[in-house]
Formats: sequence, structure tokens, C-alpha cells
Amino acid sequence: MSGASTELSGPNFGEGVKIGEVAEGTPVLGHAEGEAVVLVRQGDEAFAVGATCTHYGGPLAEGLVDGDTIRCPWHHACFSLRTGEAIAAPALNPVSCWSIERRDDRLFVMSKKVAPRKQPSGTHPRQIVIVGGGAAGHAAAEMLRREGYEGKLVMLSADPSPPVDRPNLSKDYLAGNAPEEWIPLRPPEFFTENRIELVLETRVSAINPRAKVIMTEAGASFSFDALLLATGGDPVKLTVPGSDLPHVHYLRTVADSRAIIEASKTAKRAVVIGASFIGLEVAASLRTRGLEVHVVAPEARPLESVMGTEVGDFVRALHEEHGVVFHLESTVRSIGREDVTTSSGITLPADIVVVGIGVRPRTELAEKAGITVDRGIVVDEYLETSAAGVFAAGDIARWPDPHSGQKLRVEHWVVAERHGQIAAKNMLGQRVACRFVPFFWSQHYDVSISYVGHAKRWDRTEVAGSVSGKDCTVALRAGPKTLAVITIGRDAESLKAEAAFERDDERALATFGAS
Ligand SMILES: Cc1cc2nc3c(=O)[nH]c(=O)nc-3n(C[C@H](O)[C@H](O)[C@H](O)COP(=O)(O)OP(=O)(O)OC[C@H]3O[C@@H](n4cnc5c(N)ncnc54)[C@H](O)[C@@H]3O)c2cc1C
Ligand code: FES
Repeated sequence: MSGASTELSGPNFGEGVKIGEVAEGTPVLGHAEGEAVVLVRQGDEAFAVGATCTHYGGPLAEGLVDGDTIRCPWHHACFSLRTGEAIAAPALNPVSCWSIERRDDRLFVMSKKVAPRKQPSGTHPRQIVIVGGGAAGHAAAEMLRREGYEGKLVMLSADPSPPVDRPNLSKDYLAGNAPEEWIPLRPPEFFTENRIELVLETRVSAINPRAKVIMTEAGASFSFDALLLATGGDPVKLTVPGSDLPHVHYLRTVADSRAIIEASKTAKRAVVIGASFIGLEVAASLRTRGLEVHVVAPEARPLESVMGTEVGDFVRALHEEHGVVFHLESTVRSIGREDVTTSSGITLPADIVVVGIGVRPRTELAEKAGITVDRGIVVDEYLETSAAGVFAAGDIARWPDPHSGQKLRVEHWVVAERHGQIAAKNMLGQRVACRFVPFFWSQHYDVSISYVGHAKRWDRTEVAGSVSGKDCTVALRAGPKTLAVITIGRDAESLKAEAAFERDDERALATFGAS
């Protein structure tokens, strides 16, 4: 995905900057050695790191400094100011990190530091197997090697393609604004260089947690000392007459996205079934490709059950401004070769139909193996399942969220990657508890909506700013508690809300959305 401008601006830190010009805890943008750099002062210490987030190029100078870390305003990646390491996803690669010299009242950014390779510590499993080559599986494999794991590492994936940037499949890639090269998360050599045995088009069919072995559909078996299940979800299938026709599409994989792109080259009219995030992002992308788009969904307002009335109305109006026609409080009765009939008897012409009616976690492997499953694979705070040495991460995992006090299972990219990273550390015996606050974003045309926290039910929404003006903070609250904070056009607020959730700082949280 394209990033922020890389043009250099601000002072040349190589020539020094007065300490008094660097306010404590506020990143200052400048440059050194021809690269954009942010300089941060925390008490007597100063740090200099690359200014461009390694995820999609977000501007770290507009990020949030918290202790010796800096967070990206776009999708909340977190980097170490001491080493540049991408501590928390969605960024996985480090930013550069420079040494600093203090001379009198000036700070000078000197030369780039080389991050020391982490050394393996303690006793590690000899063989680790990861089932799933998606967000969680890939982030786990990468973290295992980053943490110095030297043993055998196998990643099995039912997909024919190596790990991909799945969120892009409904957004820029589907809209025709992102080339195919942006879709793989890694070049092929990454896996060989990191000794990750990536086995594609291989479906695992059984796990034996006692014997510590997994079996594939093709009859192969792999032994493990530690196992990560990261099998994601399957799109829920529509069962009405005609739903198996060839022009009816679902969207989970690159192949699915390619198929929709191919079909949209000749199609003129699309019906999207479901006003979920994926359904609406598909609607936006198909509008960008010039198709007529109708959305059929049972709810009265799109996304209302996730984001509340105000954002729901805004999202609907935004799509209508772009020409999408909604048929809400309607379901689909049948699909014909050239049309879709709704429950209210309306017939909508359709050359292509895309169904986005939810995702079902792929938990069958765990169930068959006797691992505890309760609307997701149940894991403890270390993401370990009821079977010792077997971990679960991503869309399939239900983990105890310390902030809400509930067990959560969500389908968010950043959550899946962070789960993968934490599970990796715990497979190495580090005992890292899963304490981060869920975050996701959704993109509709040029509007990005950010969401931190988790709210299933709330009793009121409080709004600061203007939702229709695309500049707002919306808090979802239940009694005195703030459950989630949604922002549009206010990335800095979203980061502050995340930090307040992490501290369980109810007083600070009460200020979000208060006008
Ligand atoms: C089109 C699209 C757009 C999205 N956009 C956003 C967004 O904007 N923001 C956001 O927060 N989230 C978004 N999401 C959700 C996000 O992508 C998921 O939450 C995330 O991918 C979950 O990661 P995962 O690793 O759990 O599963 P996945 O990424 O789905 O990976 C699962 C992997 O397991 C493999 N697998 C499954 N069963 C087996 C088996 N038996 N044997 C071997 N391998 C198996 C699959 O082949 C796949 O490689 C989007 C999802 C989709 C589909
Ligand atoms: S651009 Fe920085 S987290 Fe996405």
C-alpha cells in the first residue's frame, strides 16, 4: 500500500537541534543522512527513529509517544524508540534507529544503530508447527525467528498463496488502485532466509495433542513440540435457491478477490448481499470500478450493531453519495442467472453477486482433538488452549480480555497478528499475557474509520465533533464504563483512547466523545 510522502522536511538533525525546541514526549519531524527522522525527548533521554511506518507508510511524527515507544496514527503499530523494533503489529519490520549525541544544549543525530540479534534463551521446543498461513500464522512465524528461535519451524496453509495482506483484498486491490505486488506480505525468499518451511495447498485434517502430531488430508504427518492453530474463518454461505450459481462470489482469499475483479470487467450491475464491513468495502470498490451496486441487508442501518446509529447513518449516506443503492430490512429470497429477488419481492438485475454475511471460525480441528471450544477455541491469557503446548490465535481464538473482563473472539487483522506474536513468545516460554486492546479499521472510499475497545451492547453513544463532517469521536458507553471509541479523521484521538483503555483509565476514557 502506498505511504505518506517521503519528502524531507524540518531541521537537519545531523546539524543539531536545541534541546529546548524538542518538547518532552512530542515527536519532532526532521531528517538525517537523507532520511526522514523523528526525534523524541523523554526526560534526560533522546531517541531518533525513521519517520515512516513500515506497515503502510503512516507518519510517525503524528503518532503517540508512550514511554520508550512510538505508535503509528494509522493502524496503531508500535515501535521501540530504543531499537526501532516493530514491537506490535500491524508493522512487522523495524524502522531505522539512530544514535544521538548531546553537546551543550544541542542534540545531534549521528549514525544508524545496528539492532543486536536476539539470542535464544532457555529451553525451546525443538519443532514448532503452525497451522494456517494468514495474519496470525505469519506474524507468529516471523516473531519466532525474531526472538532467536533456532529450531525447526513448519507453517502449513490450505491456501495456494503465501501469506497475503488480506484487508487489501476488499479495498484498494479490489478497487483497482493497488497492484498485485502489494498483496503478498513477504517476498518468497523471506521464508527460505528465515528457515520457515512453508507448505502450501495442504489442509491439516487431524491433531493428536497427546502424541504431538498433526496429519494432513494428503496423509502426511508432522510432529511438534509446540503447535499454533491459526486457521481463521470461512465465509458463512448463503443457502437460498441459486446461491451456488457461478456468478455468486464470496471474499476471503486472493483467488476470491481475483475472481471478483475478473467478473467485474464485463459486469455492469452488482448485488452485494450483506452490509457488513466486507460487503460495504466490496460495494465501494465495485463503485470505483464503475459498476451499478445494490446492497441487500436485513438491518435497518449498516454497521449499526457494531458502531451505533450515528456512524451507521453516516456510512449509509457516504455510500449513497457514491451511488450505492440500499435495500435494507430485506433479505434475499432467490438468485437467478441475471437477477436477485429480495424478501420484499423486488427483483434486482445482477451480473455479479457478492455475499458478505459473516465469518464462521474454523474450529473443527480443535473440536475433533478434544480441545475446549466455546464459540471459538478457548485460550488462557497466554493463548494456550486446553491442550498443553497447543496455542490458538486470530479469528478462531476466544481469549480473556482483562479490560472488559469478558472472553472475546473478534475478526480483526491487528488482533490476529498480535495474537500470533504473543503466542510465538509463549511457545518460547516467555509467559507474555495478552493485554492489548482490540483495534480495527475499515476503509470506505477515502474515509477510514478506526475503532478501539470492544462493545457488544451499550446503552448510549456520545459524539464529539461532526460525524457527517468526517471529523468526530464517538464513544460507546454502558453506565459509567466506556466500551469502545470510534474516530473518523482523528487518528491522534484513537491512539490516546487506546492508551487510556490499556491503563483502564475510566476518567480519561470518559472525556472521549464528550463535547
Ligand atoms: C476481504 C477482507 C477484508 C478485511 N479487512 C479488514 C480490515 O480492514 N480491518 C481488520 O481489522 N480486519 C479485516 N479483515 C479481517 C482479517 O483479515 C482477519 O481478522 C484476519 O485475516 C484473521 O487472521 P487469521 O490468521 O486468524 O486467519 P486468516 O488470515 O484467514 O488465515 C487462516 C489461514 O489458515 C489456513 N487454514 C485454514 N484451515 C486450515 C487447515 N485445516 N489446514 C491448513 N491451513 C488451514 C488458511 O488457508 C489461511 O492460510 C478482513 C478480512 C477479509 C476477508
Ligand atoms: S501505516 Fe502504520 S500501522 Fe498502518
